[in-house]
Amino acid sequence: MTVVRRVFSVFPALSRLLPSSGRCSNRFTTAADLEELITPPVQINYTKLLINGQFVDAASGEVIAHVAEGDAEDVNRAVAAARRAFDEGPWPRMTAYERSKILLRFADMVEKNIKEIAALETWNSGKPYEQAAKIELPMFVRLFRYYAGWADKIHGLTIPADGPYHVQTLHEAIGVAGQIIPWNFPLLMFAWKVCPALACGNTIVLKTAEQTPLTALCVAILFHEAGLPEGVLNIISGYGPSAGAALASHMDVDKLAFTGSTDTGKIVLELAGRSNLKAVTLELGGKSPFIVCKDANVNRAVQLAHFALFFNQGQCCCAGSRTYVHEHIYEEFVEKARLRAMRRVVGDPFKRGVEQGPQIDSEQFEKVLKYIKSGIVSGATLECGGGRFGSKGYFVQPTVFSNVEDDMLIAKDEIFGPVQSILKFKDIDDVIKRANNTQYGLAAGVFTKDVNTANRLSRALRVGTVWVNCFDVFDAAIPFGGYKMSGMGREKGIYSLYNYLQVKAVVTHLNKVR
Ligand code: NAI
Ligand code: MG
Repeated sequence: MTVVRRVFSVFPALSRLLPSSGRCSNRFTTAADLEELITPPVQINYTKLLINGQFVDAASGEVIAHVAEGDAEDVNRAVAAARRAFDEGPWPRMTAYERSKILLRFADMVEKNIKEIAALETWNSGKPYEQAAKIELPMFVRLFRYYAGWADKIHGLTIPADGPYHVQTLHEAIGVAGQIIPWNFPLLMFAWKVCPALACGNTIVLKTAEQTPLTALCVAILFHEAGLPEGVLNIISGYGPSAGAALASHMDVDKLAFTGSTDTGKIVLELAGRSNLKAVTLELGGKSPFIVCKDANVNRAVQLAHFALFFNQGQCCCAGSRTYVHEHIYEEFVEKARLRAMRRVVGDPFKRGVEQGPQIDSEQFEKVLKYIKSGIVSGATLECGGGRFGSKGYFVQPTVFSNVEDDMLIAKDEIFGPVQSILKFKDIDDVIKRANNTQYGLAAGVFTKDVNTANRLSRALRVGTVWVNCFDVFDAAIPFGGYKMSGMGREKGIYSLYNYLQVKAVVTHLNKVR
């Protein structure tokens, strides 16, 4: 059945970003499609709840769009398209310079439409519009330009060997990349996955998170307008256990890149292993320590620790969710952290100055509230917040706990919400041990003026990123990824290219050396 999607009737400014021709396979239904139907088109006018003779919105949210749900059969079609595009299409065969120009043209088009796309990202995810427009979209554009720069600089080596051989390595695209992304940064996760794969000449089937299907479809249309050939980038909206699992276990997918929870990471790794042993990279959960040393400027440390935890509604894999503060400055820090959290502006993400929007969905909202309860029950001190914000939507009050102990659930589990846990430490040896005592190893923050302390902590912490006197610096060139159960492999920078390349050794016998 062809599902007619209600195409953003709530958002007319976007209509110009929608396709008018039929060049993409995963596109919205157009007027041209409707002309082919033999029955009159059916308008879906009634989508609200009918209560007491009135159409009303659901208490927990409003429908903004209906999206086609892909399942295993759609994944098969998308993989077949990506396979054809790789085996026979122009993308892997054109010069790297041509590929690079298409990536650059796409970046230009996104840059021209930043406001509209950022607004759609806010509808998509609930994040503050200012954050999407000023931070995430410019980063998205930067990532495409960065990898456009790599496209024509990928090459192998000439290697001296023992004997009469000419040895060279060819760095070749792997083939069809399956990519599964989460909902916390829908566009940035799209960029982290898509940029390196395309720069290396692969083709893609990308599954967006079921909570946030809108922006990937929107930018993919622009990409085709920028000259991306058909079948190179296929996008499936759908659920994890159906569409996601079908992609992870597909026999014709050569590489799998996943970002999401550690539990789901284990599932997709197993699916990949049981099917065709496709290469897998995983970017998973975290419980990152943010360590504030004795010599720190407390005001600045409070600001940074606040940002490290509360950014993006606390929904960051690398959130600084264990704030370790030295005992000498602990009381002052806690009081200032409480005041800062109470000043945090929560509300309509489209309004100027709003720092925090709603959590992504009811599941996450309930999960965060459950952890807050567990913090109270386990004896941590609730400094502020502690419940729902307002009466509509999934808003959570910025919440701060002090006197948190390492064995409390709020100090061990990934909460993924606006809940700061402040722990006390005595000395560097103590905090190193405690910071490393976790299944995770994604990132850490270190706040100190002492270069020796900074160096010592940077080396001792078993994590993929250490931010010293800064946090969440996501430059396109800086690699990101996890130790331990926070993942496998690195994304961004030059490292991400290796995820999407095969190395072929070509050994040619030399008849006469000179
Ligand atoms: P999830 O890891 O289940 O979902 C992430 C992606 O994986 C989505 O596209 C989803 O559809 C897909 N997926 C789910 N089950 C799958 C399966 N069986 N096979 C293939 N793909 C599958 O994350 P979820 O359930 O949305 O959130 C749960 C928790 O995960 C959060 O509370 C948070 O702690 C963590 N999380 C971490 C993220 C990160 O950036 N590392 C991002 C999102 C969630
Ligand atoms: Mg899940």
